[in-house]
This record gives sequence, structure tokens and C-alpha cells, in this order.
Amino acid sequence: MQREGALKIPVIAANNARCKQLFDNRYGTGQSTLTAVMSATNLLIAGKTTVVAGYGWTGRGLAFYARGFGARVIVVEVDPVKALEALADGFAVMSLAEAAPLGDLFLTATGSIGVLRREHFQRMKDGALLANAGNYAHEIDVPALRQLAREEREVRRHVTEYVLRDGHRLHLLAQGALVNIVASDGHPVEIMDLSFSVQALAVHYLAQHADELKPGVVPLPDEIDFAIARTRLELLGVRLEKTTAEQEAYQQSWREP
Ligand SMILES: NC(=O)c1ccc[n+]([C@@H]2O[C@H](COP(=O)([O-])OP(=O)(O)OC[C@H]3O[C@@H](n4cnc5c(N)ncnc54)[C@H](O)[C@@H]3O)[C@@H](O)[C@H]2O)c1
Repeated sequence: MQREGALKIPVIAANNARCKQLFDNRYGTGQSTLTAVMSATNLLIAGKTTVVAGYGWTGRGLAFYARGFGARVIVVEVDPVKALEALADGFAVMSLAEAAPLGDLFLTATGSIGVLRREHFQRMKDGALLANAGNYAHEIDVPALRQLAREEREVRRHVTEYVLRDGHRLHLLAQGALVNIVASDGHPVEIMDLSFSVQALAVHYLAQHADELKPGVVPLPDEIDFAIARTRLELLGVRLEKTTAEQEAYQQSWREP
């Protein structure tokens, strides 16, 4: 919108705040997505090959929580650096075409559209589970799944079974919408404390600086992220280390002391 001049007001990208991404996207979505899959299906995660599409903050959370529950995790990425990071984190990395016949559970968190689509559905195992934790209802191509299916029925609450023409069954959770919100309680409250603090303080900042801000995307000032994290740490009784005057001077200078 900014590029095309369509953005008429200043907007803070609250999602990009560190107190949002590092906690809500990673730990909140990681925990609540796995608990949603477990409660919707009543199946075991341990031993399941779990394919995570997207290794951003959300995908990292999904991959680590799935591994914590005993899954074998495969990561699918388009960004070479993130793919390398996933490898270094100990996950298998491959294309979705390669992962499609291997996965028992597929989790999408790319923020994009049509990530799991016809060509993948056709190669998946009988009984594979599909769930989205990323971009609303667009990451799994549900219309294509419907077209491929000869039967569709709700086998459990939040689990729709699609019987493909060759008899393979695929199980879609929460109709392809955000599984952790639809089929579970969403993020834990400690996570929402942080996310709502980001949003509330972002609005406060916009109101305070309304006269000087121009239309466009405004980053959340670091001081707001720091203030939120500091408050949480204080509540947890955790003390921060302070830099000494000598360290401060050293870090500001290029000269050897
Ligand atoms: N379910 C929830 O409660 C919840 C919470 C936070 C964020 N989200 C959503 O999760 C999505 C991802 O957020 P994020 O913060 O992790 O974003 P991000 O930009 O950090 O990560 C997205 C990753 O997906 C990768 N990617 C893009 N297209 C891909 C494709 N076709 N195949 C494989 N990988 C691909 C990108 O390279 C990137 O690494 C967003 O849509 C966001 O709104 C959901």
C-alpha cells in the first residue's frame, strides 16, 4: 500500500515488534497449534512425520514444539538462509513435492497462499492431517481439495475428511482456517499480555505523534519493545544486568581502550 501510495495514514507494523514476533508468533502459535491438533484429533504427535511449511517466527515455533512432542520434523522453505538455519537446528529440509508423500501431519505458516495444493494432495499418504497456522484460510487450497474429493464428511469436531477419487483420505482441520484459534483457545494469556501491550502502546505512540508522522509504515520504536519487556521482567522478579560506564564508552568507540 505504501509503495502504491494507497496508504493514507501512518501505520505501525505491530507484527514486526520483537515483543510480538518472538513470543506470540513463535511460542504462542507453537504451543496453541500443537494443542489444537492434539485435542481436535486425539492423536499422538510422537513418531509422526510433521511437515512445517515456512520457517519464520511462526514456523520455528511449530517445528520446535512438534519436535518437543516427539515428531520427526521436515521444514519446507523458499528462503535459502532460513532453510540453512532449519538444517542447523537439526530439522530435515526439502521441497514440498518431496515432503508430500512423507508427512503424517502438515502445518502451514508462510503467510502466503496456495502452499498446500492439488499436486501435493494427490501425493499425500492415506490419513494425512492438514492444518494451517499462517495466513487465515488461504494457505491450504481447500477448493482444490474439494474438487479432488468424491466424499466429504465431518469425522470429529473441527476435522473434515475428504475421500479422494483413488480412495485416499485427507483430514483437514478447522476448514483450513487458523487451527489454534478455531480449534483451541488461541494463545496463552501471558502471550496476549505482550501482544496487546504492543498494540495499545503503538496506538498511544501514534496518538502522541499524530502531528509529525507521515502516511506510511512506521516501525515500533525500540523504547516501546524495551518498556514492555522490562515490565514483564519486573513482574517475573528478573533483574537485568547494567552496562558499566567503561563498557558504555568502549561500545561507542572504535579505539582500543
Ligand atoms: N495462528 C496464529 O495465531 C498466528 C500468530 C502469529 C502469526 N501468524 C501468521 O503466520 C504467518 C507467518 O508469520 P511469521 O511471523 O512466521 O512470518 P515470517 O515472514 O517470519 O515467516 C514466513 C516464512 O515463510 C516462508 N515462505 C514464504 N512462502 C513460502 C512457501 N511457498 N513455502 C515455504 N515457505 C515459504 C518465508 O520465506 C518466511 O521464512 C503470517 O500469516 C502470520 O499472520 C499466525
